[in-house]
Amino acid sequence: MPRDLRQRMPALCGKRHGQKVTRQGLAVLLIALLSTVGFAQDTPDYYRQNCMNCHTIGGGRLTGPDLKNVGQRRDAEWLISFMQNPKAVIDSGDPYALKLAEESRGVVMPIAPGMTRYRAEQIIKLLETESALPKSQFEGVRISSQPFTDHDRLTGRQYFTGTLRLKNGGAACISCHGMHDISALGGGRLGPDLTRVYERLKGRKSLSAWLMAPATETMQPIFRGHPLEAEEIHALAAYFESGAAHAEVEPSLSRTAFLLSGLAMATAAIFALDLIWKERFQSVRRALVEASSQRSKS
Ligand code: HEC
Ligand code: HEC
Repeated sequence: MPRDLRQRMPALCGKRHGQKVTRQGLAVLLIALLSTVGFAQDTPDYYRQNCMNCHTIGGGRLTGPDLKNVGQRRDAEWLISFMQNPKAVIDSGDPYALKLAEESRGVVMPIAPGMTRYRAEQIIKLLETESALPKSQFEGVRISSQPFTDHDRLTGRQYFTGTLRLKNGGAACISCHGMHDISALGGGRLGPDLTRVYERLKGRKSLSAWLMAPATETMQPIFRGHPLEAEEIHALAAYFESGAAHAEVEPSLSRTAFLLSGLAMATAAIFALDLIWKERFQSVRRALVEASSQRSKS
């Protein structure tokens, strides 16, 4: 803030340090309160942030089914309980939910952050209004259809490993994810191995849409303020597509590799200690021998 402004607005800036801190703390508290209550975001915004990357309204399926006229397939109560806890509805054995899950090849819809009954009711209204339009604002997402080149795959790998920085400051994928051509020890373990993610998230269109606004628990807070750029998504998708050719790399296999390499390291450490110990022992003995031979000489 320019100095003259600061002089003119002493009340806002707070001359004393303590005052300023309290005011900042208050602002943070207020924002946190507003966002938990949900006033901070209207329903279309909420939908854009949390749902659009997996669902279109009238644009065909992405990771999840097209939600056009979903209100005609299921009643409001069912939709509300599904949105509040998709896994619980699937696990309850509901045949419709089981069929949905099967069509999604086992991807289970995450619970959206801040989802409440009220929120779900608002979304049902939104889905109804948007479904009635000839062309919904949520019909789809624009995704590059340029063919992938070797350069794209290489660039994608560089974004993944962090050799190339993500433009908006997102964290490099490697800190939490592994890939088939990144050693089991190199990739992070917090997130799943992404070798088969191209296939798992049903190909280019839905994977790219997913990456535009990741809506899962860990990914959303990391990338909400640091979205991936279109060309970064293009390159990452190219790299992930190349992973699909390595479908034989099962996650369990990389876990085994991880365990085995741990074992190998432990063994190596024991050998190294053993060597160091022997070396020390020998040098002590050498010193003793030398000392005694000197003594016998004198
Ligand atoms: C990570 C992807 C993903 C996100 C994000 C997501 N969904 Fe889903 N959704 C799915 C999948 C996959 C299914 C199919 C059921 C399953 O496998 O869990 C589904 C199913 C549904 C269904 C039932 C569809 C039908 O045809 O009956 C509704 C309704 C729904 N989602 C609404 C939402 C809303 C609203 C949001 C945002 C608050 C949202 N979803 C966010 C993946 C997602
Ligand atoms: C701080 C850790 C972290 C970073 C960094 C990170 N992720 Fe994730 N990611 C996760 C976790 C954890 C999950 C599992 C879902 C969740 O909890 O969000 C995940 C899930 C995913 C999924 C869905 C996988 C599936 O099988 O459903 C994709 C795709 C993904 N991440 C891509 C990326 C990409 C691309 C980058 C880099 C641009 C990245 N992630 C960076 C932690 C991370």
